[in-house]
Amino acid sequence: MSDSASPLNEPAANKKPSANREQWSSRLVFILAATGSAVGLGNIWKFPYITGEFGGGAFVLIYLLCIASIGIPIMMAEIMLGRRGRHDPVTTMKKLAKESGHSRSWGLLGWMGVIAGFLILSYYSVIAGWAMAYVPRMAAGTFVGLDAEAVNSVFSTLVSSPETLIAWHTLFLFMTMSIVARGVRGGLEKAVTYLMPMLFVLLVILIFYAMDTGHFGQGLSYLFNPDFSKISTEGVLSAMGHAFFTLSLGMGAIMVYGSYLPDNTSIAKASISVAFMDTLVALLAGMIIFPIVFANSLEPGAGPGLIFKTLPLAFGQMNYGTFFGTLFFILLVFAAWTSSISLIEPAITWAMKTFQISRVKASVTSGMLVWFMGLFTVFSFNLASDVTISSVISTKYGEFVILKDATAFDFLDYLTSNIMLPLGGLMIAVYAGWLMKKEYSRDELSIGLWFPIWSVLVRYVAPVMVIIVFLNAMGVVAFVRSIMGV
Ligand code: PHE
Repeated sequence: MSDSASPLNEPAANKKPSANREQWSSRLVFILAATGSAVGLGNIWKFPYITGEFGGGAFVLIYLLCIASIGIPIMMAEIMLGRRGRHDPVTTMKKLAKESGHSRSWGLLGWMGVIAGFLILSYYSVIAGWAMAYVPRMAAGTFVGLDAEAVNSVFSTLVSSPETLIAWHTLFLFMTMSIVARGVRGGLEKAVTYLMPMLFVLLVILIFYAMDTGHFGQGLSYLFNPDFSKISTEGVLSAMGHAFFTLSLGMGAIMVYGSYLPDNTSIAKASISVAFMDTLVALLAGMIIFPIVFANSLEPGAGPGLIFKTLPLAFGQMNYGTFFGTLFFILLVFAAWTSSISLIEPAITWAMKTFQISRVKASVTSGMLVWFMGLFTVFSFNLASDVTISSVISTKYGEFVILKDATAFDFLDYLTSNIMLPLGGLMIAVYAGWLMKKEYSRDELSIGLWFPIWSVLVRYVAPVMVIIVFLNAMGVVAFVRSIMGV
């Protein structure tokens, strides 16, 4: 079969995709859309700050290992299930389970994805709102010549105002839902084709700035020199969770995008390209941010505000910084936008099918729900910043050390990235590797001699790694070792 694009493909004999379901206009468009989903706040905002929180190199190495050994095979599996099912994730899983003679409760996997998408979008939109709020500030030259402390206080002022955060959250969600309401193809294809390459160019420009700080080497060694004494089980869980988050895996986003994929495109090549570009953007972001952190004696573990405290400092000092800074935050908002669309798409397709409602209606209703959920995150940074898990749950359950000081935002992030996405990914791997008929997966993937390798990765490597990391994080491994005295 050729790889070339064709808008309407004859379904292969043993498949029955829904008659006139929307499809991407070409393989390239699918890759762009999936990259648009993958590259977002996860790469530029989250990757650097969690790398800083978990001590650098060792975390990055584990994250890279997870991308290669779990991320890529599971991405292939997820796209494959989507293309074969050609429905929303819930219906797709039910349909595929039926096709291979398994229980329809596999639909629950789709359900968990729909819920994870809601929860993630609720905080994602608030953070994207921060990025939007920085656009006018950048353009007005607010940061020109400011020192670290002054830049910090711009950030603190922003997040301490619930009204401002709500306003930006509302605007961002409105932007997202208005594209979703129109159907993913039209707006999205164009946005991704031009804006993603621009973002990339801008990152490359910033790398030159980072090289100029005099601390580039220190930044690189922080990122790439693993010091395993710094990594905790919690760090390992977060590295794995982030691999799912950054590749948009485990919740049906990529499954839905796969459901629009023409039959004759290579799933393996697409997955590898997406994972490659996604990783590149994250590493570039790290290589920009850490030299700035060290050059200004900032704290790598500054948390979710990290890029908002470091990048403006750089823009404030560099030539044409106002221009580049404004452009950067605009592009960051676009990157977040193309991801947020994919976060809600599973819920939209599911709601349309289940309640037989229009896309517009589904978008308005889910937009409102997400908006309300988002208030939890908004208040986590101001009014309710001291409402933490331990202040809610009595200390009797003090064992919950990891989440002791977690605000609602921390909790949502932990629950989705570290638990729901890996769990969803695990189920996808198990389904694709063990339960789906081999002839189907072989036929869908058409990767010839690579098939057995993929098969080993989704059947053994990915599930075993996810399970070990889970057990480890729950303290089970330590418990067993203590019993066995090893
Ligand atoms: N991958 C996106 C990012 O890195 C976030 C995302 C997660 C999007 C899950 C869709 C599904 O920003």
